[in-house]
Amino acid sequence: MPAASKSRQSPLRAALLDWFDHARRDLPWRRTKDPYAIWLSEVMLQQTQVVTVIPYWERFLARFPTVGALAAAALDEVLPYWSGLGYYSRCRNLHRAAQAVVAEHGGALPADADALRALPGFGPYTAGAVASIAFGLEAPIVDGNVARVFSRLFLVEGAPGDRAREKRLWELAAEQVKGPRPGDFNQALMELGATVCRVERPTCLLCPARAHCGALAAGRVEELPPARVRAPRKLLNLVVGAWERDGALLLGRRAEAGLFGGLWELPTADYPARDVDIPAALSGALGRKVTLGEHLGVVRRTLTHRDLELHLFRVKGRSAPAQAAGAYQAFRWVQPAEVASLGLSAAMVKVLERAWDR
Ligand code: ADE
Repeated sequence: MPAASKSRQSPLRAALLDWFDHARRDLPWRRTKDPYAIWLSEVMLQQTQVVTVIPYWERFLARFPTVGALAAAALDEVLPYWSGLGYYSRCRNLHRAAQAVVAEHGGALPADADALRALPGFGPYTAGAVASIAFGLEAPIVDGNVARVFSRLFLVEGAPGDRAREKRLWELAAEQVKGPRPGDFNQALMELGATVCRVERPTCLLCPARAHCGALAAGRVEELPPARVRAPRKLLNLVVGAWERDGALLLGRRAEAGLFGGLWELPTADYPARDVDIPAALSGALGRKVTLGEHLGVVRRTLTHRDLELHLFRVKGRSAPAQAAGAYQAFRWVQPAEVASLGLSAAMVKVLERAWDR
């Protein structure tokens, strides 16, 4: 790089880029320049760890190699490639955005942060990440890692979620991203937060920004930022019906909204209190009267905001439900070997294992 452009950045910025050049992890989405592949990685990496994302990202791209391929598929064909990754609205939005990119941008993601922001599922983070990493634009990003790094470097007070703090962090990100290699700079910040400037036991001795860190100078690294005060998880009790016929179980596909929207599941109903009429609740979900059989146990799952309890019972009805009924847009009888081809939550996979185990 010519000396002139290198000098147009702060010593902090230069130090972070130099560090990133040798310390960066070799991640598959860092070997591509395809904006679609980079976008997919950034969506998957929100809320999910790198090691978990890698195989999902590879499988997804192998099956849907272009925006056009993704847009042309039905959501029901796409969700199996997200099964178990959680936050399924990410997948629904990704699919909708791919269709918008085809309809409005000729199948290529627009190289413009505002145009990206207008696409389904693109918040400021995703728009900034794609604009800077894929297109080399000076677009800021703030995720949890960047927020922690800036809180410490610049002594930003306030806890996660605090409005004034968020505003200050985005201002800092917008100032700092200006200069050479904005995409690498943003990734350097995230990388530093993930590997050095960690929540617990940060390794300040190894930090390329130690000479520029306000918190280190003030002896406040451990106290910044203060921990987020999390609301306690809500308990979500559900009752689930296993209706078996010739080794197959009846699964329904939920409408495309809400926590598990678009996914397949055993017929499920709310079970807020023990005095709920279970056969009536499951008959309502199915749009067919069923009778209750053996209790097969409880499957528990912890999500970010909810503790799920799935109470599983055998059920039986006279005739299978209509094509779309109750809470479902479609039903089908599913054999164990077909499970991998359906969009299912991790919780439902556990429930199915339990139902077929008996
Ligand atoms: N977390 C999310 N996206 C990332 C990226 N591009 N680099 C490092 N960490 C990330």
